[in-house]
Amino acid sequence: MQTQESLEEARRVLRANDRGGFTIPTAGLYPFQWLWDAGFTALGWMRFDEPRAWAELETLFLGQWENGMLPHIVFHRPEETYFPGPERWGVTRTPPTSAITQPPVVATFVRSMLEQAQDQALAEAKARSLYPRILAYHRWFKRERDPENTGLVTVLHPWETGADNSPAWDEALARVEVDPALPPYTRRDTAHVDPSQRPRQAEYDRFLTLLEVYKRAGFDQLRLLRECPFRVASLLIDCVLHRANRDLLWLSERLGFGHEAEIAGWLKASQRGIEGLWDEEAGLYFNRDLVTGEPIRVGVSASFLPLYAGTASPERARRLLDTLEGWAQRVRYLVPSTDPHSPRFEPQRYWRGPVWAVVNYLIALGLAEYGYPEAALRIRRDTLELVQKSGFSEYFHPLTGAGLGGSSFSWTAAIYLVWSQSPSASGWV
Ligand code: GLC
Repeated sequence: MQTQESLEEARRVLRANDRGGFTIPTAGLYPFQWLWDAGFTALGWMRFDEPRAWAELETLFLGQWENGMLPHIVFHRPEETYFPGPERWGVTRTPPTSAITQPPVVATFVRSMLEQAQDQALAEAKARSLYPRILAYHRWFKRERDPENTGLVTVLHPWETGADNSPAWDEALARVEVDPALPPYTRRDTAHVDPSQRPRQAEYDRFLTLLEVYKRAGFDQLRLLRECPFRVASLLIDCVLHRANRDLLWLSERLGFGHEAEIAGWLKASQRGIEGLWDEEAGLYFNRDLVTGEPIRVGVSASFLPLYAGTASPERARRLLDTLEGWAQRVRYLVPSTDPHSPRFEPQRYWRGPVWAVVNYLIALGLAEYGYPEAALRIRRDTLELVQKSGFSEYFHPLTGAGLGGSSFSWTAAIYLVWSQSPSASGWV
């Protein structure tokens, strides 16, 4: 595909996935609105329809809970093609939602949307109306997921991390005993996508066992912090939240809300928390198992995200770049979701190896900000090439560049729109 043609196609993908105020990731496989997908998709809409971009986020917040939690799926309307749907989650709300969250990209993207908007009056009004809801969400993280102020959020489900079957969760998930009374179910994902590109059955049984744990606990977060058998600190959540808090602080100042001191307190704690995940020997950050307290020693793409958070020292940033260069020797396209030297690397199985455009975007942004524009450009070039070669796939094979998972995928189209239209240095976001 030529660039012009691909741009037109990217817009077509978003329009085709638009269900009126919310954009589904892709028809069939993911027919509802997902939290972090909505954030990236809003950035894509911003390139050709600003009111539609803001609507994406407003619609997402229709699913927010009274306690501030922003759920990872909002089931705006019934659909038969997906499991687990609202009945299985057992959340009785309108609109129905899931009961867990996802990487909180929203504050950061609201800031960048406000900064780049052509229609400043609209952008300011929308940012002002979203701000209190984002603040309530971030307060929920602090109050209910880090009540002891460790600086790291406790994550209760692999789905919360956005990287569902990452090898980082293998041991922590294996410890979850499959509920012998687990109600029977039929997976729908493997009807849409080749099973060799999806999580394994043993993982699915545990994913669903965790839902039963939440229901039994009445979704009481503080109780789950003690009782949930799966508890990890995830770089995807902590780094995205750290940056989101930096941007929330910026918004508070810019819009005159006056919450800077409170947010600065969170940042101080998360700066310390994230830097505590550094591993000097590996030259990488590792996720942590919060049940055992041990680092999870497998390199994953999220291991580079302290660059995006902005917490890494210049020395650590340099080490991360060396590590990334080592990975680049093993694959044709950056950034594989798992260290390609690891025995756990599986180049076509979902979060165990494939390249994801959205994570590339976050890593490249971090590299550019730390003064490594060539590395950032390499990642951007690889991503654009993958799309031109294989279309708007959900994820890509890091060795062959083949498109994997769902097709006509919204967030891949969104990243394409953002990256192919902003060649300037200031155009990273
Ligand atoms: C998968 C991904 C998750 C994404 C969702 C919708 O569950 O792992 O990160 O948000 O699909 O695209």
